[in-house]
Amino acid sequence: MSGLSQAVGVLFMEGGRNSSLAASVIGSAEEARFALADIPSRVEPRQVLMCDPSYFEIKDAKNPFMEGNLNSTDPKGANRQWHALKQTYENLGYPVRLISAQKNLEDMVFTANQVLPGKEDDGLPYVVLSEMVHPSRQAEVPFFAEWFEGNGYQLMRLTGDSASCPRFEGQGDAIWHPGKRLLWGGYGFRTQEAAYTLLSELLCLPVLKLELVNSRFYHLDTAFCVLDVDCAMIYPDAFNERGLALIRRYFARVLEVSEADAANFACNAHALGRKVILQAGSPDTCQALRGLGFEPVEVETGEFMKSGGSVFCLKMMVF
Ligand code: ARG
Repeated sequence: MSGLSQAVGVLFMEGGRNSSLAASVIGSAEEARFALADIPSRVEPRQVLMCDPSYFEIKDAKNPFMEGNLNSTDPKGANRQWHALKQTYENLGYPVRLISAQKNLEDMVFTANQVLPGKEDDGLPYVVLSEMVHPSRQAEVPFFAEWFEGNGYQLMRLTGDSASCPRFEGQGDAIWHPGKRLLWGGYGFRTQEAAYTLLSELLCLPVLKLELVNSRFYHLDTAFCVLDVDCAMIYPDAFNERGLALIRRYFARVLEVSEADAANFACNAHALGRKVILQAGSPDTCQALRGLGFEPVEVETGEFMKSGGSVFCLKMMVF
C-alpha cells in the first residue's frame, strides 16, 4: 500500500475548488444552501468490477435477509445468475473487470462495499478504503487495495488508525450524485455518521447524510437509487422526514417504490444512462420507470438476495 495518502483533500483545495462547498456534511434541507448547479461536475466511470461467486455462502446473519437463509445458497444457481449479470453489463457496453475470489471470504462477491472510488477530472483515480463492520468482511479490503493499487489508483484511508476509525462501507452507503462532485451518505446500521465528517474533509466535498431507520434497509443502496442528475428512486420507509426532505431538495423527481418492490430489491437497481438494471418481479416499479423515460432491464439475483444484496451490491464502477 505504498500509495496510501491522507493528503489528497489538500491537493484538491489547492486546485482552486470553491471552498464554501468543500468539506461540509449536511443533514437537513434547511442546512442545504447550495444548488446542484453550484456543484462541479464529475466524470462517471465506465467499467464494472465484479468478483465471481466461487466461495459465496451464507455462514452467519450479518443482516435481516440472511436470517433463515444460513447455508441455503445454490452454487450453480448463483453462478448462473452472476454470469448473466456480467453478460448484461457487457451487452450494454460496459466492460467487466474481475477481482479474484478468495476462499473463506464468502461475501467478497458483493464488490460495492470494500472501497469508494473517485477521480478528479485532472487527476489520478483514487479509492477510499472501507472500514467494514464484520471481521470476515474486513479481510476483503486488502485484496481490493491491492487490485486498485495495481490498476493505478491512489489509496486513501479515513484515518491512520483503523481500530478507532468510524465504520465505513464504501459504495454500499456512500453514493455519488450522478455527474456531480457530491456524495450521498447513509448511516445507522453499517457506516457510522462520523465517517462522513472524515470523508468530506478527506475528499474536500459536501456529503448529504441520510439516517437509515429501518434495519431491513441496512445499506443506503438497498433503499436509494440515483437514476440521473435530477431523478431518484427510493423506499420512503427507510428514511426519516429530514432525510426525505433532503432527497426531495436535490432530486426534482423522486419515484417511491412500494414495500413489496423494496423487499424485492427494486431500489438496489443500477441506472446506466436510460437503462436501469434491476431484479425481476417488480412490475409497478418497472412501469413507473418507463413513465419517467427509463428502460428497465430485468435480471435474476435471487441467490444473492438471500444474503441481502442484488444488482447494485454485486458491482463496483471503476475508471
Ligand atoms: N451479506 C452482505 C453483507 O451483509 C451483503 C452486502 C450487500 N451489499 C450492499 N452494497 N448492500 O454485508
